[in-house]
Amino acid sequence: MSILVSHLSKQFGLQKAVNDISFQVGKGEILGFLGPNGAGKTTTMRMITGYLAPDTGEIRINDIPVSEENQAIKALIGYLPENNPLYLDMYVKEYLRYVARIYKIDQPWKRISEVIGMTGLSTESHKLIRSLSKGYRQRVGLAQAILHDPEVLILDEATSGLDPNQLIEIRQLIRDLGKEKTILLSTHIMQEVQALCDRVVIINKGIIVGDGNIQLLSQNLSNAYRVEVTFSRPVVDITLREIRGYIKHDDAGVNRYIITGDESTLNEAIFDFAISKNLKILEMSTLRESVENIFQQLTTRAS
Ligand SMILES: Nc1ncnc2c1ncn2[C@@H]1O[C@H](COP(=O)(O)OP(=O)(O)O)[C@@H](O)[C@H]1O
Ligand SMILES: [Mg+2]
Repeated sequence: MSILVSHLSKQFGLQKAVNDISFQVGKGEILGFLGPNGAGKTTTMRMITGYLAPDTGEIRINDIPVSEENQAIKALIGYLPENNPLYLDMYVKEYLRYVARIYKIDQPWKRISEVIGMTGLSTESHKLIRSLSKGYRQRVGLAQAILHDPEVLILDEATSGLDPNQLIEIRQLIRDLGKEKTILLSTHIMQEVQALCDRVVIINKGIIVGDGNIQLLSQNLSNAYRVEVTFSRPVVDITLREIRGYIKHDDAGVNRYIITGDESTLNEAIFDFAISKNLKILEMSTLRESVENIFQQLTTRAS
């Protein structure tokens, strides 16, 4: 396991910000850490990175226990904190040189120019951080996080506040980084998880309310991905089960069915099914966004 979190808790005053949570992140995995604002994501990540001491529980990175004194841990982890605090009055290169010094990186300029290339900062690298757009500031944040080539990246709301173009670019960058590294990525946006993650851990009010493959999670819930479809003639129950990814269906009127199934293939599977049965599709619509729906169900269930 790259990251192991076991029975972790943190209380601020009377409030349990993180309440006995456990989860693991496998090597090379991109895990989405999803939850509404105030759920405890940032608190958890600060503990994982060793910046905040837990009240109870244990964290291990590559089997090494995390503690505030343990500097070895810092070499393993790259951290992009929430709101990406940067020194606005430094130049991009100057800032990265400063970070390189903290990590005592060998041949710093060689590595800095490598990372500037990787993060698409070449045209901005001579500029003051203050003068950069939000998207480029995020790139600088990611650049400092990967400068010492850590195995594990902890990215706290890495794409919040970006415009749609910047969002696409930063997501692609995270995907590329994910090919080599283990990534724990927090977000309050369901689509973010769908776009980037292999697996999701859902947290609400300090408690983990879901953990697993996005598809599997959706199958465990009553209202997973649903498509309402009207065929040109009735179809018997048994036959509907032939639809790829079928989970269940409900009758919704004359020749009309609500089919629950695997989101990634359901629409296509219904088309294939219709063709194979010589049925015409008269109407078809998606009832809900699945991950949004999972998220809603899980976070309201626990409250
Ligand atoms: N340093 C702190 N002092 C007091 N309360 C805090 C502190 N940090 C976080 N909290 C509280 O803990 C809860 C979880 O916060 P946080 O981990 O930032 O959630 P998230 O990142 O999921 O939005 C919130 O209710 C927040 O107000
Ligand atoms: Mg947060």
